[in-house]
Amino acid sequence: MSGPLIRTEGLVKRFGPFTALNGIDLEVHAGEIHALLGDNGAGKSTLIKTLSGIHPPTEGQIYVEGRPVNFRSPRDASDAGIGTVYQDLAINPLLSVTRNFFMGRELRTGPGPFGMLKMDEMDRITHEEMVKIGINVSDPGQLIGTMSGGQRQTLAIARAIHFGAKVLILDEPTSALGQKQQMEVLKTMMRVKKRGGIAIIFITHNEIHSQLVADRFTFLALGEVIGRGTKAELEGEDIRHLMAGGHEIRDLELELAAV
Ligand SMILES: Nc1ncnc2c1ncn2[C@@H]1O[C@H](COP(=O)(O)OP(=O)(O)OP(=O)(O)O)[C@@H](O)[C@H]1O
Ligand SMILES: [Mg+2]
Repeated sequence: MSGPLIRTEGLVKRFGPFTALNGIDLEVHAGEIHALLGDNGAGKSTLIKTLSGIHPPTEGQIYVEGRPVNFRSPRDASDAGIGTVYQDLAINPLLSVTRNFFMGRELRTGPGPFGMLKMDEMDRITHEEMVKIGINVSDPGQLIGTMSGGQRQTLAIARAIHFGAKVLILDEPTSALGQKQQMEVLKTMMRVKKRGGIAIIFITHNEIHSQLVADRFTFLALGEVIGRGTKAELEGEDIRHLMAGGHEIRDLELELAAV
């Protein structure tokens, strides 16, 4: 496939007088992990909320596979193939792996909400999808509350893909996890990438994580793109500099020394 899966042109988002996004151009390609980086308040979450149909842009245009789209709700974005995994994950710890996987989209024997649940089929699909992504859940009836944080992230990712996500947006999927589980999530992302056809937007504050998995980087500061490039184009130094919002470590040292 050619051309970006998702593209934004001059995206602006204002909240009253405050400009959170000020003309963002972004291209995200299938088969790539695209790291979206920037300090607190840079506009990362606002950007993905705009891509996910939560915020209508004030100005600018979003294109999915070359077609202009106007999302009026998260449902519109999801129907267009944009699957977003938020940090709180919308997962119910008291429900089973399978019930969480199908939450709101259960398979039933009859039409509407009154048919019997097809538990066997849902268990089978859940098991297959989780294995594909690298987790062998021996009991799909297991309660989510007993799974690790990394496994929960993986479940949310497998669910988004099963229900048609072509663009998978992960907002800080590793931030609340310990080292081992962080690696589990990074591995999940690499497996999704290897399956091809899907683009991943990966928001993180962790420079090492972004360097480990990302093919392409976009750096935001105060609602604007301050740097972008492929892994080959950016040196480790550039990445560090851009992650600091374009400040030199030396300036930050001086700021601390002045305390
Ligand atoms: N609903 C809103 N109303 C008003 N201002 C908002 C709203 N949402 C975000 N902002 C402002 O927009 C700016 C960007 O916020 P955003 O959450 O996108 O940053 P971020 O890059 O995701 O930061 P973090 O790394 O802390 O998650 C911030 O100054 C924030 O206060
Ligand atoms: Mg954020």
